[in-house]
Amino acid sequence: MSDWTTRAARLVDELTEAGKLRSPQWQEAFRGVPRHVFVPEYYQQDGGTWTAVSTDSPEGLDAVYANRALFTDVDEHGRGVSSSSMPGLMARMLEILDIHPGDRVLEIGTGTGYNAAILCSVLGDDNVYSIDIDYVDAARRRLATVGFSPTLDTRDGVLGLPVGAPYDRIEATVAVSSVPYAWVQQVREGGLILVDLKIGTAAGNLVLLQHDGYAAEGRFDGGYAAFMSMRHPSRVEPPTTPVNTNSLSAVTGVTRVPPKAWEKSVPWFLASLSLPEGTTYGFTLDERYTPTATLFTSPDGSRATVLLDGEESLDGEGGAWQCEQSGPHRLWDEVERAYALWWDFGQPSWERFGLTVTPETQTVWLDDPVQPAWSCPLPD
Ligand SMILES: C[S@@+](CC[C@H](N)C(=O)[O-])C[C@H]1O[C@@H](n2cnc3c(N)ncnc32)[C@H](O)[C@@H]1O
Repeated sequence: MSDWTTRAARLVDELTEAGKLRSPQWQEAFRGVPRHVFVPEYYQQDGGTWTAVSTDSPEGLDAVYANRALFTDVDEHGRGVSSSSMPGLMARMLEILDIHPGDRVLEIGTGTGYNAAILCSVLGDDNVYSIDIDYVDAARRRLATVGFSPTLDTRDGVLGLPVGAPYDRIEATVAVSSVPYAWVQQVREGGLILVDLKIGTAAGNLVLLQHDGYAAEGRFDGGYAAFMSMRHPSRVEPPTTPVNTNSLSAVTGVTRVPPKAWEKSVPWFLASLSLPEGTTYGFTLDERYTPTATLFTSPDGSRATVLLDGEESLDGEGGAWQCEQSGPHRLWDEVERAYALWWDFGQPSWERFGLTVTPETQTVWLDDPVQPAWSCPLPD
């Protein structure tokens, strides 16, 4: 066996043992498709600096056949803008999508082309379609190197790809803040869409939707996933509202919600459904650069800080921390409301939540599509 086939076989064994790969068709695909062809180099961050690492060495091959996401492009702000996803996550998504031979699949987010190659090896070129806002030419060349020629196009993923519709499955390997209705229109009735819905900063998860002829509806996945967000180069960012200094007076109080509110992904998602668009989170630091509080800000000048030094309650439902809020929007009140609701419902996990997408609305629900329900913000 060659260097890469031994490593690929080892990775398949690891993913199979971990329960991420189950079907022989995907096991064979991950064993047979050379990931290093699609990832000839990747970027590694070292003390804030990105360095390109070639995979043309034993260490490079070890990295490329490990269960690791690898950044393959970085923008001028030092943000990763394309990557080859973790093979374990790719496998999990393919299994969740319940893909059968003969199915026609549209992938949103071609990236390196590796996932498209895995799809081609099981479904054949004619059944695989993939689009990206960039990188498609390189992906096409690499796919051809290993003998695949699916239909690829450079276009904004929100548009989907009408030419191959109706699809049996749509798999988005990039996160969206709302599910484009074009995808619902392009998947056949009974077909499935799997996408990472992320509203606001890191708030959301994979959701599997089935098209019922009008709406697409389904539940969030029990595991957690985080894809990079879809880019919208032509979308004009809304101007930030001038800060109304009259309403900046600060209020202080004690909160039951832990300062790092984002660490519990479900209530953080619920909070993000009502936090203003563009809300960010981070830490305030003392003069030794030690974090002292968490800081939440929104573009209208609203702020909330919560001191890290507080008391955790024994029942796991909160504690007591000092918090201060200022600005037109009481950001922490939104977070507290979401946590209170989540505690009241008995701390439900992801799979108890679902999403319904219609042409006009996107609604998150608990247990049952009827209620309780939350409206998702939609793009203008
Ligand atoms: C995690 S990577 C996809 C990995 C890919 N499936 C693979 O196997 O290498 C996410 C991709 O989404 C793409 N993307 C970002 N915004 C997009 C958009 N508006 N439309 C289509 N693709 C987009 C990025 O360019 C990036 O290549």
